Amino acid sequence: MCGIVGVVSTRQVPDLLVEGLQRLEYRGYDSAGIAVLDANQVLKRRRTIGKVKELADSLRSDSLSGVTGIAHTRWATHGVPSEGNAHPHVYGETVALAHNGIVENHEALREELVGLGSEFTSDTDTEVIVHLIGRELANTDSLLDAVRRAVKRLEGAFAIGVISSRHPGRLIGARKGSPLVVGLGHGENFIASDVLALRSLTDRFILLEEGDLVELTPSDVSVWNLDDESVVRSSVKVEMRVDDTGKGNFQHYMHKEIHQQPQAVAATLEGRVTRHRVLEEAFGVRASSVFDRTRAITIVACGSSYYSASIARYWIEDLVGIPCNVEIASEFRYRRGVVLPGSLFVTITQSGETADTLAALRLVKEQGFEASLTICNVPTSTTVRESDLALMIQAGPEIGVASTKAFTAQLVDLMLLTILLGRRHRMSEDTERELVGALRGLPDVLEEALKLDVVTRKLAQRLVDKHHALFLGRGAHYPVALEGALKLKEISYIHAEALPAGELKHGPLALVDAEMPVIAVAPNNDLLEKLKSNLQEVRARGGELIVFADETLGFRTEPGVTVVEVPSVHEALAPIVFTVALQLLAYHTAALKGTDLDQPRNLAKSVTVE
Ligand code: F6R
Repeated sequence: MCGIVGVVSTRQVPDLLVEGLQRLEYRGYDSAGIAVLDANQVLKRRRTIGKVKELADSLRSDSLSGVTGIAHTRWATHGVPSEGNAHPHVYGETVALAHNGIVENHEALREELVGLGSEFTSDTDTEVIVHLIGRELANTDSLLDAVRRAVKRLEGAFAIGVISSRHPGRLIGARKGSPLVVGLGHGENFIASDVLALRSLTDRFILLEEGDLVELTPSDVSVWNLDDESVVRSSVKVEMRVDDTGKGNFQHYMHKEIHQQPQAVAATLEGRVTRHRVLEEAFGVRASSVFDRTRAITIVACGSSYYSASIARYWIEDLVGIPCNVEIASEFRYRRGVVLPGSLFVTITQSGETADTLAALRLVKEQGFEASLTICNVPTSTTVRESDLALMIQAGPEIGVASTKAFTAQLVDLMLLTILLGRRHRMSEDTERELVGALRGLPDVLEEALKLDVVTRKLAQRLVDKHHALFLGRGAHYPVALEGALKLKEISYIHAEALPAGELKHGPLALVDAEMPVIAVAPNNDLLEKLKSNLQEVRARGGELIVFADETLGFRTEPGVTVVEVPSVHEALAPIVFTVALQLLAYHTAALKGTDLDQPRNLAKSVTVE
């Protein structure tokens, strides 16, 4: 969380910094700030509460100038969102710093610094870093040196950008536990929390590694480690399509991204399947031998990515026939579990930077897993770099905070993984052929499902005034219900819970009355009759049902039951299609309520703090 950007150039940088912040806003948006060195090398700072737009407006009416600067968009951890807590933080008139991460030993450091005469002006953990650097400058002429000495004292996670009035034309960055990339320009260089922030400025990047420090001038970039040794980091070219980051004809990124799902699925399949088979070679040279040795799987993820993993558990145990354990990363990392022989450790993460998922990955390195595999959307991310194998999804940048196209593309990757493992265990060639055929047809089925835009927009009127909603599903559609409930609550702020439909009578049925809409997912599978009985239990208590039902079932709308027909697809892939329908329902409900659904309150896209 929090986004940082820095530029050292020979041209004016405030507009470049603000543009970078706008692209990083998905990382946090409760306050923003900028610090630059003006023509006289005087440090100038501006901070505002709210979104980056507030900062941009403030700079428009009262501009800053300078050719070196840093900027920050915040997701509050220590201290409320306020101007005083917004970054950059400063040490007197000398040093300014922007930080992403959490300094865990900030209290002890603050006490020590206060003892030395430091006065703090914010409630943040960050401010201790800038004081440490400022004080180190009494012992060294080098800003890089001062930053190195300071960060060596930090426990926790950080990515920082630092400028100093005593070191014009110089920008220092450092990372440990939080992401930071260097952008290479012509006559100017940059740092940012991700490559997207610098999209309009460069396509050449250095992906910093843990413990790296970087010194940038307009013409030079040098990378160092914490022991003051120069390290070589090669640069990479990252292609970014211009239309990836705009809203196109849509009012919200989320709506655009929901509609991009057929393309995201097609791109994720591209080059990986023939007409009837999954191409094992497409997963890299090491994959085959890892899959040969795999006898069990542990998947770890957070939020929506955890729900896609939970769907895959049904696939892996049913179609492959090996144990699959799925856990929430923030729980897994603090639990001593049992590793079955031949276990593959899988992380699923859209961003590849989620702190809990990354911590789990690092933790298992010594735990006897055969190998680690990540399913991820960002090739330059830390998780990809630190895993043995990476199975990329090709969803393109997902900017709406609520995950949509990344979720469905993750499921496509998970089905490919299921097939690759299945062929080594209980899956027949015929089943593989059937599933590959269904996967290839999936983009067309999703195009059909997207036509539910119209009916879900109408249905949203029924939900918009409600305070609670209950989602029901069974089997692999229970995690679909969980994902539907998460989508609704995070963007519309309507409290939503999901249950395996068979659990209703064990307590939650007490909640059902005319004020509690119950949204059920009814695919055409073996559990259908059981689900129907569960729905009767709701009707008998006067509950209002909205049933998303496979179109082949012939369910009819009747008093108290509204049926939405969902396009039919191979049973195994039905969770993907039903999820799209639930995304649309959540989207239209939030749009009708008028919430800030691309950037819902209190949330951020990339959760890089614990
Ligand atoms: C919900 C959502 C989050 C993320 C979660 C994990 O719509 O997007 O629940 O799924 O924060 O993020 P990643 O996948 O980046 O690890």
